[in-house]
Amino acid sequence: MKILLLNGPNLNLLGQREPEIYGHTTLADIEAKVRERAAELKVQIEFRQSNLEGELVNWIQQAKGQFDVIVINAAAYTHTSIALRDAIAAGGVPTIEIHLSNVHAREEFRHKSLIAPVCRGQITGFGQKSYILGLEAAVDVKDY
Ligand code: DQA
Repeated sequence: MKILLLNGPNLNLLGQREPEIYGHTTLADIEAKVRERAAELKVQIEFRQSNLEGELVNWIQQAKGQFDVIVINAAAYTHTSIALRDAIAAGGVPTIEIHLSNVHAREEFRHKSLIAPVCRGQITGFGQKSYILGLEAAVDVKDY
């Protein structure tokens, strides 16, 4: 099984960025933890980050036929991007939405996810554990 794990804008700054919200863990630390768990689960993982909406759209389009599941922390694009939503809907690759923080407990503009209706489910608020939970949900996605 091949899983594509995508990260959106500003997640490259994890560790320095608003640590009171996102903690001190870097994206590289999270990637290492995800790779460890992926090895235990015997699945292949491709881990990417981009600050560019169009690049994320391209990666989602290209995932068709290449990956079994997408796990995505779309960051701020979660709340703004019809393009990401349309790419997820068009590709037909089962997609799981994840967030470090609990977006529903934060500013009102974060309560709305434009991608949620085209995702299989949403995992939000568990810090770096959201990535591990997203990976575990991805492995079993056919059972849901
Ligand atoms: C985030 C939540 C988003 O609202 C925010 O724009 C992010 C990170 C999270 O992982 O908690 O950049 O996706």
